[in-house]
Amino acid sequence: MALQIGDTAPDFTADTTQGPIKFHEWLGDSWGVLFSHPKDFTPVCTTELGEAARLKPEFDRRNTKIIGLSVDPVDSHKKWEADIEETQGQAVNFPVIGDPDHTVADLYGMIHPKANDTLTVRSVFFIGPDKTIKASITYPASTGRNFDEILRVIDSLQLTSKFSVSTPVNWKDGGDVIISPAIPDDEAKERFPKGFKTLKPYLRMTPQPDK
Ligand code: BEZ
Repeated sequence: MALQIGDTAPDFTADTTQGPIKFHEWLGDSWGVLFSHPKDFTPVCTTELGEAARLKPEFDRRNTKIIGLSVDPVDSHKKWEADIEETQGQAVNFPVIGDPDHTVADLYGMIHPKANDTLTVRSVFFIGPDKTIKASITYPASTGRNFDEILRVIDSLQLTSKFSVSTPVNWKDGGDVIISPAIPDDEAKERFPKGFKTLKPYLRMTPQPDK
């Protein structure tokens, strides 16, 4: 069965462009984002890796380690990285897993045979410091991902892990959030001293509590 929210992110050892890693040990106490690329020397992947590298300081600021994966071996990734730097103006500054035998891709269900027997789809796994899966997204090879959305999801996951709130449609860091319906009004007044607006008893908006 596919990995689900709440499952432990499978541990593995793998060769990467930055040397061998044991995944859980490498994650340490950080949050993690593991994302797959169908294949080396392909156009969409080239743009994605450049963008992920450009945004690395934003992931660092969120205490989040990022790691890519493609089913080609590490020596191929290293040659490809020269093209990424040349065309995207940004060197890849995080590890990319070489997975020619599909060990990691199979552990995470990144190969969807009805899409392609041998290449991964574009999977993203968001992993918490407790090593459980907090969210995942899946796109086909033909659709490049939006890495601003990946940062936005991390912001929501980190905020909602600290406060009893949810983030509404199109929320961005700094926007108003929704108080959990399980919290009665009198308790909400104490927990959210900036106040809240009751649109419906189940829909109470409050300014983001950590801003
Ligand atoms: C790409 O990255 O452009 C790509 C990779 C595999 C299949 C289709 C597109």
